[in-house]
Parts: sequence; C-alpha cells; structure tokens
Amino acid sequence: MTNGPTTGRARPVVARDWAAGRRARGVGRSATVVAARGERDRDGDARAVVLAPKREIAQVSAKKAVAVEPVGKPAIGSTAAACGAAVAAAAAALAIKRASSGSSNSKKQKRIVIAGAPASGKGTQCELIVKKFGLTHISAGDLLRAAVAAGTEAGLKAKEYMDRGDLVPNEVVVTMVKERLSQPDCSKGWLLDGYPRSEEQAEALIESGIQPDLFLLLDVPDEILLERVVGRRLDPVDGTIYHMTFFPPPTPEIAARLTQRSDDTEEKASNRLSVHHKNVDAVVGKYETIMKTVDGNRAKQDVFKDIERLIKAM
Ligand code: AP5
Repeated sequence: MTNGPTTGRARPVVARDWAAGRRARGVGRSATVVAARGERDRDGDARAVVLAPKREIAQVSAKKAVAVEPVGKPAIGSTAAACGAAVAAAAAALAIKRASSGSSNSKKQKRIVIAGAPASGKGTQCELIVKKFGLTHISAGDLLRAAVAAGTEAGLKAKEYMDRGDLVPNEVVVTMVKERLSQPDCSKGWLLDGYPRSEEQAEALIESGIQPDLFLLLDVPDEILLERVVGRRLDPVDGTIYHMTFFPPPTPEIAARLTQRSDDTEEKASNRLSVHHKNVDAVVGKYETIMKTVDGNRAKQDVFKDIERLIKAM
C-alpha cells in the first residue's frame, strides 16, 4: 500500500507531541481539520482524507497517519484538534476497510506458487504479477543461474544438471529456496516460480511449514512450448523476456543486446519437458485444494486477466 500523496504544497513532517514532550508522527500544526471522509487509494486500500483549509489535503492511511504541514504560516493552537482528527480519521479508515472487505484477512500476505512446463509462461506472468501485486518473486531457475554465474560450490554442482535439462539435486535447490524465502522482503508476500518441482521438494516445503495459499498451474500444449523455448531471448539490462516471434524486442538496439539461455535448444527443452511430465502429477497432488489451472495458450495479457482475478479472490 502506498501512502497517499499530499496535494497542494503540503509536505510530510514529524510533528511534535507537545503535551507528552515526545516526538510522534501526527498531523502538522497548521492542518486545521474541517472534515474527514473515507476513500480508497489506487491499490484499493482504505484511507481517510482529512480536509484542511486552503484546499490542503492530508491523506491518512489506515495503517499510519501521514503527517503534513502546509508550507506557509502555521495556524496557532490547532495542534490538538488536528492530531485528534487524524487519529479519528485513521480509525474511520480502518472501520471502512473492515466493513467493506467483509473479511479479517483481506490484508493477509499473498503466497503463491506458479508452476508449468518449460516455457509455459511462468516468468512472463511473474513480471505482470509483481508489477500489479508487488510480491517478492523467487524463481528457482534464476537462483540457480545466479549461483552458476557466481561460481559458488552450489552453482558448480547445479550446472551439469541444468546443462542437460535435468532437475538439480535437492540438497542444492531445497536449501537455496528455503534460505531465500526466509529473507525479510518475503514478509510482504511471495511468488515462487518453478518450485516445488518434485514430490520431495513439495514435502520439504510442507515440513518447513511453508504453505502457499494459491498454486497456479499454467497449461500449454507441448507442441507450442518448443516453439516458445527456441524463440526466447532475454534482455540482460532489465530482465525482460522476449520472443522473436510472439514478443519481439521493440528496437534494434535492444535486439542487439539480447541473450539466449544455453538450455533453450530443442534437444534440452525436450528433456526438460519430459522431466516436467514425470513429476508434475505428484507435485499437484500435494496442492489439490489450492490449485487453479490457467489456460496459458493465449495472449499473455489474457492469461494474466485470469491470474489477476484468481489472486484478487484470495
Ligand atoms: P527454469 O529457469 O525455471 O526453466 P523452466 O521451468 O524450464 O521454465 P522457463 O524459464 O523455460 O519458462 P517459463 O515458464 O518461465 O516461460 P517464459 O515466461 O520465459 O529452470 C531451468 C533449469 O533450472 C531446469 O531445467 C533445472 O535444471 C533447474 N531447476 C529450476 N528449478 C528447479 C527445481 N525446483 N528443482 C531442480 N532443478 C531446478 O516464456 C517462454 C517464452 O515464451 C518467452 O520467449 C516468452 O516471451 C514467450 N511467451 C510467454 N508467454 C507467452 C504467451 N502467452 N504467448 C506467446 N508467447 C509467450
């Protein structure tokens, strides 16, 4: 959730809690409050808008009050009223949010697994999901490629398996993913891409108490997948995933810098595909109750519309 921007010439300040002699965040001295109403910000989060004179608007989020101080001469003697109103406005925003969500866990962090065959569009959809929902994206393949590039012991071990298109042994990948999931940025919710890929990996997650709330499975026919694999190109500058036919680079300059993954050959992709088919049923079996299959054989924006709807329904 973003705190609402202030309008006019108001700017954030830390206001002094004069009575208690402590510093506290609150509404600036001159924001004489004349009214408060509930609104939603762009992300749909409830917030209260405190109307101040001179058309200055202090937007108070449901989570924390944002202090504002209009530039110019402060109105004397309005501190207590302003702070009180800000607290009331924040409480009002929370009440609005609770009433309209109809559920106490609407703010719960989203924990999602996205699965599917090689080139089914996991990475492509993750870009869109992250942009829309701000989750932390963890791709098992990316973690492994980073380890290979860094030449770590785990990376050296992983490389021979990745080069063949086989699954990297669990002693490497399980630890890597579990460690990544324990990082602080995962507390805002996570999107796990390409993990778990075997029954053992699913069991390892479950044993660690790591439980997703949604398991998305992208469904794309095999004959489409191979065409996607061989045409895929990656932009090393911003990470965008292109396809030379379906999503070509927009400029010759970008086209010139694109790279191709070493496992994106027809032969290696065929092996990756058969590894996927060997394991997918066992993995899905562990997540039946939270699994949603999405038809991935459509334009990426259409695929995303379904995914967006499913995530919003969480
Ligand atoms: P990883 O990197 O995860 O590869 P993958 O699972 O084979 O998946 P891809 O990255 O190939 O495809 P994607 O589904 O992300 O598709 P994308 O969006 O790029 O893993 C690589 C290797 O690491 C594995 O083989 C294994 O060795 C190892 N590994 C990884 N995880 C492991 C684990 N858990 N355990 C053990 N080992 C592990 O799209 C592909 C192309 O299609 C792009 O060009 C894109 O532009 C295009 N495209 C996407 N969507 C559409 C659409 N809707 N229409 C048309 N084109 C589209």
